[in-house]
Amino acid sequence: MNILGIETSCDETSIALLENDTIKANEIYSQEIHSSFGGVVPEMASRAHLGKIDALCKSVFGATGISFDDIGLIAVTDSPGLAGALLVGISFALGIHCGRGVPVTGINHLEGHICSIFLEHPDIGLPFLALIVSGGHTSIYKVNDFGDYECLGQTVDDAAGEAFDKVGKLLGFNYPAGRAIEREAALAPSQTLIPFPMARTSTTMLDFSFSGLKTSVKYFLQERGPEYLTENKSLICKSFQNSLVESLAGNLLTASRQTGIKTIAVVGGVACNAQLRQRMKALPGLKVFFPSPALCTDNAAMIARAGYERKKRGMLRFPRMAPSAKL
Ligand code: KG4
Ligand code: ZN
Repeated sequence: MNILGIETSCDETSIALLENDTIKANEIYSQEIHSSFGGVVPEMASRAHLGKIDALCKSVFGATGISFDDIGLIAVTDSPGLAGALLVGISFALGIHCGRGVPVTGINHLEGHICSIFLEHPDIGLPFLALIVSGGHTSIYKVNDFGDYECLGQTVDDAAGEAFDKVGKLLGFNYPAGRAIEREAALAPSQTLIPFPMARTSTTMLDFSFSGLKTSVKYFLQERGPEYLTENKSLICKSFQNSLVESLAGNLLTASRQTGIKTIAVVGGVACNAQLRQRMKALPGLKVFFPSPALCTDNAAMIARAGYERKKRGMLRFPRMAPSAKL
């Protein structure tokens, strides 16, 4: 069965085609119009999705030789996300559904991120712990099975990617700033890092907090002035990145100890980060899996993969935008 995946929840327009659980095409258009605004401008995002979605769809059909008549299921992100942005993808999916009679299922975006791990690691084995680290979310889920998730902890304020983007703005980087901070951090001389706070809400709870880290970078910079920033940018980037990664690693270790689960999936845009990947892989006694970077950031292949699972298990559900961001 061929599955058409559609993702438009934030600032990536993505269309994918899967043959069962195998990717045939996965096209992603990252909107650059937001770069100077320090974050995503919702109305601009919706309009950019509208302008791009048709061409992307034609492109994946052209690249694969698959036609509309060969599609057995449409899987579309229906929540959480920006309302107008989601509506573009959902309306597109429902248009095909009504015009062609192709079955359609809504997919929760976070379920999509969790399913991204199955695309390249189908044998990961259940249960596992999923650390979702993206621009909108930072949570640890115990994945008992597809559709059976327990939230063990989540951020009480900013998401990890949001912290990268906000600190990036303080440092003069465009949005999204995660990759730029990572690149700058790699240039840092090997010296003692600035001890920015490691955000832990407690030693037993698994919630995260990153707004204090962002604020401490802000005050640190205010006290020292622009010249210090110019001369020490890479050290500041490395120190910030290190604090954030240590906070994620600490909670993940605690989650593993508390549940006895040693298999970990780290997914979402921030999972592209090389220091994070290295640190997680070095965690003692754990088997840690990551999607390749193109499948970490928002993409429609992960949405189609979740759709495949829903179809297989008779769990299709009509798209509906839910007010809650929770899985
Ligand atoms: O998963 P994603 O594409 O979108 C959401 O669902 O939010 O994640 C985007 C986030 C942005 O905040 C971006 O700065 C961050 O992922 N990101 C990174 C890296 N690449 C993307 N953060 C740190 N290091 C990276 N290499
Ligand atoms: Zn995402």
